[in-house]
Amino acid sequence: MKKSVIGVACGALLAAGCAGVEEQKEVSAVALLQPRSGSTVSGNIKFTQIGDVVRVTGEITGHTKGPKGFHIHEKGDCSDDKAMSTGGHFNPGKSKHGGPYDPVKHAGDLGNIVFNADGIAKVNFTVGDIAVSKDAPNGIIGRAVIVHATNDDLKTDPTGNAGGRVACGVITG
Ligand code: CU
Ligand code: ZN
Repeated sequence: MKKSVIGVACGALLAAGCAGVEEQKEVSAVALLQPRSGSTVSGNIKFTQIGDVVRVTGEITGHTKGPKGFHIHEKGDCSDDKAMSTGGHFNPGKSKHGGPYDPVKHAGDLGNIVFNADGIAKVNFTVGDIAVSKDAPNGIIGRAVIVHATNDDLKTDPTGNAGGRVACGVITG
């Protein structure tokens, strides 16, 4: 897990209350997604812990237009050429599949990301039920991010019926 100090030049400031701000830390992890299943889909995703939620940011390119299933899968192993080595959706709560903001969902259910006509998806949302951690029960470091061939219907258990796995990246801290 990377902890980087968010720079605050307290020494140069006379303002009261500066102490404390300089202790702020950013806890984040990243995944470099590479094509699978014969696709050209690739990109970068960053996970940043913000209190009890995680902000997910980044950009994925090379897909067809529209919403595409986007999940954290259990195993951080992208070695298979169809990414089947990542196992199922990350599901520490032994729940059923759902949407990212549904009360019943896998922790790894991040819903869909939307690709534009140029095949680019700009990713920026927050989600609960996961942590930027190696050791927490819901920790995502060491697991994998998957982009799917088609959209997640946010209900079909256990996969969301999102089709093949077209990009895969291991989450590293
Ligand atoms: Cu998936
Ligand atoms: Zn799921």
